[in-house]
Amino acid sequence: MSDQLHLAAEEQAMFDGEQGIAVRRAMEIVVALGKIYGAKRLVPIHSVQVAGVSYKNLGEAGLDFLREWAAQGARVRVPTTLNPAGIDVVQWHTLGFSATFAQQQQAVIAAYTAMGIEPVCTCTPYLIGNRPAWGDHLAWAESSAVILANSVLGARTNREGGPSALAAAICGRTAAYGLHLDENRIATHRVEVHSRPVSLTDWGALGYLVGRQVRNGIPYILLADPVGTTGVAPTLDQLKTLGAAMAASGAVALYHIDGVTPEAQAGNVAPPKGAPQILIDDLTTGYAALNGDAEQIDLVSIGCPHASLDELTEIARLVEGKRLCAALWVTTARETRRRAAQAVATIEAAGGRVVADTCMVVAPVDQLGFKSMATNSAKMAFYAPAHSGLSVRFGPLEQCIEAALTGKMRKA
Ligand code: F3S
Repeated sequence: MSDQLHLAAEEQAMFDGEQGIAVRRAMEIVVALGKIYGAKRLVPIHSVQVAGVSYKNLGEAGLDFLREWAAQGARVRVPTTLNPAGIDVVQWHTLGFSATFAQQQQAVIAAYTAMGIEPVCTCTPYLIGNRPAWGDHLAWAESSAVILANSVLGARTNREGGPSALAAAICGRTAAYGLHLDENRIATHRVEVHSRPVSLTDWGALGYLVGRQVRNGIPYILLADPVGTTGVAPTLDQLKTLGAAMAASGAVALYHIDGVTPEAQAGNVAPPKGAPQILIDDLTTGYAALNGDAEQIDLVSIGCPHASLDELTEIARLVEGKRLCAALWVTTARETRRRAAQAVATIEAAGGRVVADTCMVVAPVDQLGFKSMATNSAKMAFYAPAHSGLSVRFGPLEQCIEAALTGKMRKA
């Protein structure tokens, strides 16, 4: 083995193929990454979240790759879940997905299931039971989940790619580099925010602006009013929205908020003297960059990252007793959908759909006939035009629901 990267005896045996070809292939990936990034050892991991699940992105070549690895005996050693797939696996036929695409997507999920992975398709595993603890090492792939696990929960994961996360799951280990190490978790930029974001869209616009400037750095954010005038710290939904936007417009995998996030509270991750400083005194440019021109709205998409129970409850409150004119899709984890049965019933009685397992970035939106979308998610507004060919409006939840009720969204 390399003079740099030390493998324990069992790891060396895995690398040498003593546990079969599937494990050897996985170890080759983990070790290759470790060597590239100068790791000195591997670390055991608590869980894995695999991206690269939608057949829209994987195609037949990706499916063949998974089937071959499964047939070679690949099996995961730690709890492993999946990122959103291209369909709602239960409701796909009533949502307009083609039977052909649904079969292809089911084949991908079956290949993952054959490896022992739970067929749970969500970008918010931390909302449905897979909530890492402080200091846990992980190999997660979805950028919005990675940044939340690192920043809000104090767990440790790099932004894994699909194959590297899967390889880590098969080995039960990842290489100790990047955000697994204390010294790489210190902030690189100081970001002063002169007003406290209020709505989720404010948090998304802020995340968009920070990510665009920090790129793959680690921002240390000083909010004007970190615990709010009422003494309330930012909610998990606000922090998940902030991080998702930052990870989309930049490649941020960890942020700290002074007085709020756990490592900032512990007090040893502030940026060094002379670190670049960013001042944000106005979110208008963030809103403007994410907002398009469409006034006619076909689809309102809420739930990026996947909606929480609180978000579903709030949407239900806004649509209760009303009749929607445009399509409303609220995307969420299947387990969250199950727990929110009452809110789901209210939303669906108004004509909306609560859609599990997928989202409007990884679903084959071209099959569904939508041309324009309104969303309250900065991440969705950032990705949907390029990934789904949609004309996108970005605005607060109340404005999006108004668009669902009228089919129109007024220009700001
Ligand atoms: Fe999740 Fe899809 Fe958004 S994976 S974070 S809902 S783009």
